[in-house]
Amino acid sequence: MNLLIEMFSTFKQTGDLINDCYNFLKNKDKTIVAEHSLKVSNECVRLADLFGYSQEDASIAGILHDISAVFPYSTQLEIVKNYGVELLPVEEDFPLLVHQKTSRIIAEKIFNIHDVNILNAIGCHTTLKENPCTLDLILFIADKLCWDNPYTAPYYELVSDALETSLEYAAYVYMKYNLDEDLLKVIHPWYQQAYDQLHLGFTNYENMESNSFRKSISLSINRKHKRNRS
Ligand SMILES: [Fe+2]
Ligand SMILES: [Fe+2]
Repeated sequence: MNLLIEMFSTFKQTGDLINDCYNFLKNKDKTIVAEHSLKVSNECVRLADLFGYSQEDASIAGILHDISAVFPYSTQLEIVKNYGVELLPVEEDFPLLVHQKTSRIIAEKIFNIHDVNILNAIGCHTTLKENPCTLDLILFIADKLCWDNPYTAPYYELVSDALETSLEYAAYVYMKYNLDEDLLKVIHPWYQQAYDQLHLGFTNYENMESNSFRKSISLSINRKHKRNRS
């Protein structure tokens, strides 16, 4: 039987997608992912409200973005290949990077989501990509602000503050933080392309605020690190 259909054969739709997905993940022993997805969905709604996007579409993208967690990575690679979606070498080497593509396939094939903006946002929520649209940015940032660790993300204040400038700037600040702190095991080409584009756009802005920008990054991170240690 088709791997997707088999996995979701027990999925009960009540008409409340948010609760249905949350309960499905919990029933599959994915409680941490269920809680994270619910938080991301709520954060997507908040950001959609702030930046004038459909709150309903944003909530759907949020609740479904990690739905692929019900499959092990080896199965996810198989699913992506079976559906004829391109697999990049880095995704085969680091299968964590493939889950955004698997979630997109599940959203479309199982949940009958056909809004291309929702599907695209799910499909690049880990890495972002060049020319991101508003929902790509909303989901990317919401996912990072609501990371599934018990303590607050060390970049939380930095990215939250950057949201006061724009979604693009918040994404840029987050991506720059990862690169500056050398936190990425591998750089997905979509991440690099998205970062390069944002970097080009914000170079002047950053130069203008060069000193204060860099100081605010280090101060914010140092504050967080101290707080998390105490
Ligand atoms: Fe994810
Ligand atoms: Fe996530």
